[in-house]
Amino acid sequence: MKILFATSEMFPLIKTGGLADVSGALPLALQALGADIRVILPHYAATRMEWFEPDGKVWQPVILGQPLTIRSGLLKDSRLPIYLVDHPVFSARQGNPYMGPDGNPWHDNPDRFALFCRAVVDFAMRDDADHWRPDIIHSNDWQTGLIPALLSETQSIKNVFTIHNLAYQGVYDRATFERLGLPWSLWRPDALEYWGNMSFMKGGIIFSDYITTVSPTYAKEIQTPKFGYGLDGLLQHHANKLKGILNGIGADWDPQTDHYLPFHFNQNDLLNKYEIKELLQQQMGLPIEPRTPLLVHIGRLVEQKGIDLLIQAIEQLPNEPVQFVVLGSGEHRFEQALRQLAAQRPQQVSVRIGYDEALAHQLEAGADAFLMPSRFEPCGLNQLYSLRYGTCPIVHRVGGLADTVVHADEAHIADGTATGIVIDHLDSAAIVWAIRYFQSLYANETVFRRIQAQGMSQDFDWMASARAYHAIYLDTLQDHGDDQQNEN
Ligand code: ADP
Ligand code: GLC
Repeated sequence: MKILFATSEMFPLIKTGGLADVSGALPLALQALGADIRVILPHYAATRMEWFEPDGKVWQPVILGQPLTIRSGLLKDSRLPIYLVDHPVFSARQGNPYMGPDGNPWHDNPDRFALFCRAVVDFAMRDDADHWRPDIIHSNDWQTGLIPALLSETQSIKNVFTIHNLAYQGVYDRATFERLGLPWSLWRPDALEYWGNMSFMKGGIIFSDYITTVSPTYAKEIQTPKFGYGLDGLLQHHANKLKGILNGIGADWDPQTDHYLPFHFNQNDLLNKYEIKELLQQQMGLPIEPRTPLLVHIGRLVEQKGIDLLIQAIEQLPNEPVQFVVLGSGEHRFEQALRQLAAQRPQQVSVRIGYDEALAHQLEAGADAFLMPSRFEPCGLNQLYSLRYGTCPIVHRVGGLADTVVHADEAHIADGTATGIVIDHLDSAAIVWAIRYFQSLYANETVFRRIQAQGMSQDFDWMASARAYHAIYLDTLQDHGDDQQNEN
């Protein structure tokens, strides 16, 4: 089974969020199951090339008059083959893969990712005698949505498409469609056309043999107007080929081995967790108080994550004996508000604006609770990391958060299944309530240790999810075999 996994980011080569974590872990798990899987992604200026071991193979296709270079190699310390697609629209832009320094999307994102999609298709379809030709291309999010569309005339390659976030769809005007030189046959409501515009995401949904998303609850939610962002009807229509598969935890996130941590710990011995907490309090300029709860948030500072509500909630708790640390970057208004809060309350609030992988690991390890009041959350990885690191997740009952955290109400505390705090109706008052409820749980050491231990013992290994993807690949190829038989 030959799979080409197309993605716009992959840890540790390049990361902006959870898609990178998934792209860095799922292919490895699938490889362990015996799949011949290879990853293809753009080569950005910020790609950490020390993680790429070139094997000398290079292809130089010319796509719509533009010369590109595709380099083959291995991900360092693994046997995972990687292909990097190099073109100045990727490799000559410093910083974030999707946004310029002003925080706005690169103006030519549709051109950049259409070029990437064409490069993937061109590469997959090469007819050199010894070329590795995939049976399936597994594409991810809107940036790769044109791949299934461009392959729609081809019978020999199947498509699996994963939606990591339906809120970003890659919708552009008709002039863009024309500029991209896409076949007019794709300008139809049952293809890429979307209310007079074009949608990359529709390409992935309509032309794939199988659609997955990253949690069972999100798979249901996106079929409703509230979470479907205009595509709920289309997804309902394709419900028979849509499945939610929960993300897992990659090998880099384990408190017993995590190389970003100064000390390690496990379920039976949390002493080092509390050492890390004290170091963090010191590092973040907060009073070093072992018994004061440390609540953290890490993430993109955008409305999806409920950061506005979290800021309002913190504002309502000026005298509460808790400490807050926020690590993130995103919209300037949220960065500003957070900086202001930290300046006003240096004893209680500490803020780090930016992206810091090491600090993210240390915060997961040293915190007592993780605040994740997302308005929607396809899967969410930080609540999984929190569970594994003995950090109580405080979440909103949506998407993957609903699927992974068990609310610590009396019944769940009594039967030992509670793992965190789950908010049913989200607003800033509910977050204030949840923080106070957390304090009451934390004050009762026996109860809190039980919740922690239950969280730490949850199994979110990637292997289970990888098996589900593997089954989908088999299913897809099976259908293919049947089609061929019918054709013969
Ligand atoms: P999303 O993909 O929607 O941003 P996820 O919870 O799936 O959310 O994954 C986010 C990933 O990005 C996690 O690994 C998280 O630790 C990481 N992350 C987000 N913001 C930062 C940051 N400012 N610094 C370090 N890591 C971050
Ligand atoms: C998206 C989602 C997040 C998910 C991640 C990886 O960025 O917002 O919930 O965990 O993709 O699938």
